[in-house]
Amino acid sequence: MVKQVLEYLNPQEGGMYIDATCGSGHHARAILEYTDGKAKIICIDKDPRAILRAKKYLEQFSDSVIFVNDGFENIEQIVKRINAERISGILFDLGFSSEQISDSEAGFGFRQDGMLDMRFNPESPVSAYDVVNSYPEYEIKRILFEYGEMKDAEKIAHLICEERKKRPIRTTRQLADLIASCRKKRGNIHPATQVFQAIRIYVNNELENLKSGLNGALKVLMPGGRIVVISYHSLEDRIVKKFMKSSNKLRMLFKKVIVPDQMEKVINPCARSAKMRVAEVIN
Ligand SMILES: C[S@@+](CC[C@H](N)C(=O)[O-])C[C@H]1O[C@@H](n2cnc3c(N)ncnc32)[C@H](O)[C@@H]1O
Repeated sequence: MVKQVLEYLNPQEGGMYIDATCGSGHHARAILEYTDGKAKIICIDKDPRAILRAKKYLEQFSDSVIFVNDGFENIEQIVKRINAERISGILFDLGFSSEQISDSEAGFGFRQDGMLDMRFNPESPVSAYDVVNSYPEYEIKRILFEYGEMKDAEKIAHLICEERKKRPIRTTRQLADLIASCRKKRGNIHPATQVFQAIRIYVNNELENLKSGLNGALKVLMPGGRIVVISYHSLEDRIVKKFMKSSNKLRMLFKKVIVPDQMEKVINPCARSAKMRVAEVIN
């Protein structure tokens, strides 16, 4: 949703922006091109592999970018650490990137086989492998129910625990095939999609980090500054909506979510479920 990001973040030459989830740097690059390289951007990502990709992709703008390999839940400390002031806008483009899903080493996806992992920060203590192979059944059920909103969480948790008695569930494909053996496909959506979403959200503590990131963003933005958030599932969007609606320091630019236009959905199927919300710090 690059067009909408530029429209609603409204970056200006001389402004200081934060891309809280810079990924490979596509949005950051669009902001820099739009402002002729005359805005500054703090590019944050928890995944060191994403930071390396972004550094390469944004090489020609290196004077305008500060890269930070950290979590956006620490946004306040990050801003203090680098002595940044007067932040005019912050972008959150949540979830994972297409580069991460096709990186078999990161173990997010099942289209390419890879070791089950799903950690944005490869050094964080718990991976998807640990959850699937060593967590008790009731805890796996809770994760699938809370973060995947799965009605059959109990059945799937039991299936996983029975399978791991025979052999460890090591790879993304192994887990996806196991789920597909007892769950129906819904439309074009693979039966294991919700299971992968749930485990990824848990492993990366995504919902709690989002709450902390939004609160921190509000503290570092200057009056009139904007927060633009793109989320990809209802659990995230509910948090964003509640945060923006309930803060007396923010004004929501639109009551309704902004969704990609038909053309973007065709060109970029990953954007199909994207929902954007925008709020401005009251002067
Ligand atoms: C959808 S991608 C962003 C793509 C990016 N907008 C672009 O234009 O390339 C989401 C990114 O957020 C990062 N991420 C997820 N949780 C994070 C967190 N708590 N702090 C910082 N980065 C995070 C992921 O590593 C991933 O690279």
